Amino acid sequence: MNWNELENACQQCRGCELWKTRTNLVFGCGSREAELMFVGEGPGEREDATGIPFVGAAGMLLDQYLAAVGIEREDVYIANILKCRPPNNRDPLPEEGDACIGHLRGQVKLIRPKMIVCLGRIAAARLIHPDYKITREHGQIVVKGSFAMTAVYHPAALLRDASKKEDMLRDMKKIKAYLDGLN
Ligand code: URA
Repeated sequence: MNWNELENACQQCRGCELWKTRTNLVFGCGSREAELMFVGEGPGEREDATGIPFVGAAGMLLDQYLAAVGIEREDVYIANILKCRPPNNRDPLPEEGDACIGHLRGQVKLIRPKMIVCLGRIAAARLIHPDYKITREHGQIVVKGSFAMTAVYHPAALLRDASKKEDMLRDMKKIKAYLDGLN
């Protein structure tokens, strides 16, 4: 599948019910040649309204961490496990993740990033291992086939608990250093 085919497949997807209540598909954004890819959980209200991932309050905080470690947002690719917003920001159902994960796999295949960073526990449980403990495992880098993976706190969690911000900055610096070390 090429990018157009993949995006069309997402637009037409009826694999779960979320297409019925979404305003926009939130496919993903950023560089399709990115070495670094971020994966969140699913679109929130702002993302649903704009069709762009991580543009609300959590996204603005993510942007601050990218800037703090010298990563340009336009150089990375940002996507979510779910491409459609769950109504009222409820947690995604496992079957919605199952129905949608193939689209993310398609994006990863086309981009072939060197590192995938899960934003929060839900993405990490889906992509790294099912019982991922974000408080214990955040920032640990694991190599899976042709790319490395790690998880950091979801920026929305940092908005609720500022004491996690120090760990977040440390993890983001580690991610930048890891990528710099590959080049
Ligand atoms: N939270 C997510 O997990 N993804 C977004 O795109 C926005 C907020």
